Amino acid sequence: MSTVDLKGQVALVTGGAGGIGAAVSRRLAKLGARVAVLDLDAAGAQRIASATGGIAIVGDVADPGTMPAVVEQVERELGRLDVVHLNAGIGGGQTGVDDTLDVARYRKLIGVNVDHVVYGLCAAVPALRRQGGGKIVITASLAGLTAMPSDPLYTLTKHAVVGYVRAAGEVLARENIAVTALCPGFVDTLLLGAAKEEFDAVAFPLLTPSDIADALESVLAGAASGQAWVIQPGGRSSAYEFRGVPGVGGGQLPPDVVLGRVR
Ligand SMILES: NC(=O)c1ccc[n+]([C@@H]2O[C@H](COP(=O)([O-])OP(=O)(O)OC[C@H]3O[C@@H](n4cnc5c(N)ncnc54)[C@H](O)[C@@H]3O)[C@@H](O)[C@H]2O)c1
Repeated sequence: MSTVDLKGQVALVTGGAGGIGAAVSRRLAKLGARVAVLDLDAAGAQRIASATGGIAIVGDVADPGTMPAVVEQVERELGRLDVVHLNAGIGGGQTGVDDTLDVARYRKLIGVNVDHVVYGLCAAVPALRRQGGGKIVITASLAGLTAMPSDPLYTLTKHAVVGYVRAAGEVLARENIAVTALCPGFVDTLLLGAAKEEFDAVAFPLLTPSDIADALESVLAGAASGQAWVIQPGGRSSAYEFRGVPGVGGGQLPPDVVLGRVR
């Protein structure tokens, strides 16, 4: 029996039409929330929204205008916003380590995997403040904690997300807003593409989207803000314990230092 009760609450899930986002949308609805399912895939978003009694929203999360407009639409149509899962993401699709770099593809990757997270969090915070707090969960990856040599650019984006969550999570905790990164190993979704056959050939253990929904439910039950949760097949998910860095104060900056602020 879950301790998480989202009755009367409203959730927004990006990339909610497929894979992890669809499983999470279903779980949030089962826990009592009304769910707004945002995706590029209109038919898929509508299918999950219909199955969960929520609403479908079509949009590109990499577009700077999308997340503010979506948050506004969710508050207007569903009355409030309490839980946000910034989950949409794509793979790098290229080596990213020599002059074959496809810049358009790289910018797209940054748009979906990094910009979307920043736009989404910044748009959601005022809405969560209006409820006196809330939860923001972001799908990073194990590639946000370890190197994935087969996809350095994907590794770059997911490390960026984990760093953002750790820093923003600390600031927003003061306002009762918890921010958490999910860091799953490989999950059996369409994102794997042709690699799925290679995993199957060596019987590599894959997570299921429902494993990620389980971890998200544990996070909603009370993760401290700023944590990155490791999700691996066969194990219980839990917060990754970062080592301190050598040197003064374990590498911590004084709290009010903002780099780049005009003097
Ligand atoms: N599958 C894995 O092995 C794995 C492992 C770790 C982390 N992740 C992360 O999990 C998240 C979800 O991936 P998944 O495995 O469920 O993949 P998926 O491809 O099954 O689902 C991703 C969903 O995001 C949507 N989407 C993609 N680009 C979009 C955009 N610009 N705007 C709106 N929607 C968009 C897609 O239409 C799709 O419905 C991603 O952030 C991914 O990086 C996946």
